[in-house]
Amino acid sequence: MFPDVRPRRLRRSPAMRRLVEETRLAPAELILPLFLKEGLTEPREISSLPGVLQHSRESLRKAAHEAVTAGVGGLMLFGVPTSEHKDASGSAGLDPDGILNVGIRDLISEVGDSTVVMGDLCLDEFTSHGHCGVLAADGSVDNDATLEIYAEMAVAQAEAGVHMVGPSGMMDGQIGVVRRALDKAGYQDVSVLAYSAKYAGAFYGPFREAVESTLQGDRRQYQQDPPNLREALREVDLDVAEGADIVMVKPALPYLDVIAAIRERVTVPVAAYQVSGEYAMVEAAARNGWIDRERVMLESLTSIKRAGAQITLTYWATEVAQLLRNRY
Ligand code: PBG
Repeated sequence: MFPDVRPRRLRRSPAMRRLVEETRLAPAELILPLFLKEGLTEPREISSLPGVLQHSRESLRKAAHEAVTAGVGGLMLFGVPTSEHKDASGSAGLDPDGILNVGIRDLISEVGDSTVVMGDLCLDEFTSHGHCGVLAADGSVDNDATLEIYAEMAVAQAEAGVHMVGPSGMMDGQIGVVRRALDKAGYQDVSVLAYSAKYAGAFYGPFREAVESTLQGDRRQYQQDPPNLREALREVDLDVAEGADIVMVKPALPYLDVIAAIRERVTVPVAAYQVSGEYAMVEAAARNGWIDRERVMLESLTSIKRAGAQITLTYWATEVAQLLRNRY
């Protein structure tokens, strides 16, 4: 009438629970996304991402330094040009003196090789229509014309010193084109983080504010449809074949099944992006006193890792890294 086996024994004390803990977060696997806004003298908080800033060049360096000190594994930079520097083809993204390449140089001079400096490789921050590529006559995004621009953009980022580029536009063939362009320009050592399974969901709302996107329409013709898992495996297979060094799933928490399936399938590292909407939901609920912010933050990141992501992009990277340092 009494159980012979009692799993509760291993949960009795903090020491016991620590001993049998299966998934343990570490600062080095966290990547901090950063926004650099052209022309700012003072950083500005993004209202739908409380605690996240549009940086000035100076505050960007400070944030990078803080992240490195906390042991954060990488920095992912997004450039936010002024509206007069947005045009139909996103040309400011290729400009060596455009805000993204300026920011990459600043980051490299600030942190050197002490962390991995990454650049977002996409046009949506730079186009007047807010799409991730250039438009064809019928208003759709022209895949192959966009690829040519991505190739140039990758080389411009490599020239600025970036360690890793993150093609996030979901154009067919983007990884291969970027890989070949980097190799041809002598940047064989610049690596590629492929946003392989990027879903056209509704979790990117606050990011649009962060990069002052003027998106007309939506991205459903190029990003993936949320109901599909097998399609993500196909995208990942293609990206690995085209030379991706790391593959990524985005968003993270609503797509843990996708992370787990990809983890089973490939041997390259798997990353996940805990996106702006995921962050904003937790911050908003915590502000209302409805959830315990710190615990939910750690629980969500632990779940993403348990599902199979070895690397996670999160706006909480520095804070979590600091918390972890004090904990273990
Ligand atoms: C595209 C890009 C987006 C995000 C990262 N890279 C926006 C989009 O695909 O619409 C969103 C990240 C977030 O929501 O935190 N350059």
